Amino acid sequence: MSVASTVSAEKVAPKTPGARRRRILVVDDEPHARRALVELLSDDGYEVASAGDGFKALGILREWPCEVLLTDWRMPVMDGITLIKKAREENPQLGCVVMTAFGSVESAVEAMKAGADDYLTKPLNFDAVSLVLARAMDRIEERRELTSLRARNAEQRAQTRTKILGSSPPVQSLVAMIDQVAGARATVMITGESGTGKELIARMLHEKSGRVDKPFVRLHCAALAESLLESELFGHERGAFTGANARREGRFEEADGGTLFLDEIGEISPTIQVKLLRFLQQREFERVGGNKTISVDVRVVAATNRDLEAEVKAGRFREDLYFRLNVIHIQAPPLRARPGDVPLLARHFVAKYAQENARNIEEVAPEVMSTLERYDWPGNVRELENVVERAVVMTDGTRLELRHLPAELLRQSERGLLGELGVQIPGSSLAEIERHAILRTYEATGGSSAETAEMLGISVRKVQYRLREYREAGVMVED
Ligand SMILES: Nc1ncnc2c1ncn2[C@@H]1O[C@H](COP(=O)(O)OP(=O)(O)OP(=O)(O)O)[C@@H](O)[C@H]1O
Ligand SMILES: [Mg+2]
Repeated sequence: MSVASTVSAEKVAPKTPGARRRRILVVDDEPHARRALVELLSDDGYEVASAGDGFKALGILREWPCEVLLTDWRMPVMDGITLIKKAREENPQLGCVVMTAFGSVESAVEAMKAGADDYLTKPLNFDAVSLVLARAMDRIEERRELTSLRARNAEQRAQTRTKILGSSPPVQSLVAMIDQVAGARATVMITGESGTGKELIARMLHEKSGRVDKPFVRLHCAALAESLLESELFGHERGAFTGANARREGRFEEADGGTLFLDEIGEISPTIQVKLLRFLQQREFERVGGNKTISVDVRVVAATNRDLEAEVKAGRFREDLYFRLNVIHIQAPPLRARPGDVPLLARHFVAKYAQENARNIEEVAPEVMSTLERYDWPGNVRELENVVERAVVMTDGTRLELRHLPAELLRQSERGLLGELGVQIPGSSLAEIERHAILRTYEATGGSSAETAEMLGISVRKVQYRLREYREAGVMVED
């Protein structure tokens, strides 16, 4: 192998992304032709290697990754087409140009069929060589960009893929439900308290449907005034109202083929309710100020944290629309109904925010976990996420501790703890608190008065005296 490393001006050969010069392997059994090509291409700024036959060429390709293989067709030992096939097997990205005898159009066609990107006819015209190789290089570049773009997109998709965390039975049946209904076009209604993951569920429905390559469009219905909401949903024609200077497509058109997520559906006005009902019944609508009927293929997913049934009873929400929306109903369970998921979610958020804030958190104190598990989470997963984010930001060391939690949460969780014991503070007498302390400790020590006394810091006599008292009062049941 001979590698010519000319340091000439780089006319057509900018560097590869790896910051080395672009490489060409020249293969020709004829030494003069080989040498001339090496010289020419080195002058063009490429790094060039050469080989006298196909076997040597394959050996070089393995050691010396290059962009383009420029090979003669007719060679003893191995012909150029066979070489291209073998080389491509090992590196499908390799650019290949074949040199054929003048006038043999058939062989040129055959070369292209065999996978060559281009061909040159002999005797060689040096300008043509430069041009064809520059073109082959461009094609390689495009192929590379495409490949890395694809890889990046796939990675991004994997990263942004929605995950519903939780191993509790309510979450497992939620995920099973999503799997089951994702593929249908039927409208889905998601209900649940604030922060329970309604939007997450909507995104997951979209990702698991056949619509994943089409848009997921979210519209927050409570955020817009009635007239704006209408044109946002259905679009408007030019001049439909003051300020409508141009025609605009609405979210329904934007979501064509995909999913339209109508968040806070409970807030929409009677007028919009009628229009939405028509869409759900007929799958068509008109833009505001227009009379052309437009039909789109959109799956509607709606969410609300209001009690829509009550809204229907109160006459604020159309019953027929309610039934149309509610074809499939998914209920997002509140976090307090699945305290077992709290540690998992907490650890997930700790990792997420530690990374985001460049903190190195190695440990979460066990009492932090049990405090989080006891808390009743009125703001559900969102509140947990916020609490953890705050704690992570406040942590100076590597361990998350109780003092990093909000005081109000600690107080409430403490009340929960006492509630579990059957005493309330304030609200319980000291005697009741003492009774619970003694009975629980006695139970926990497996019925040892000595240990109970030790743990509570009182005398054994006192423990025994109290136990007798409790038995007599019937508050202590012996097994
Ligand atoms: N099971 C879960 N696993 C992981 N993250 C979750 C889960 N549930 C909720 N979250 C996260 O909690 C936050 C709140 O979720 P989301 O916005 O979907 O709630 P929501 O029900 O739409 O609330 P709201 O009614 O207030 O709009 C988001 O950051 C979401 O990623
Ligand atoms: Mg939401």
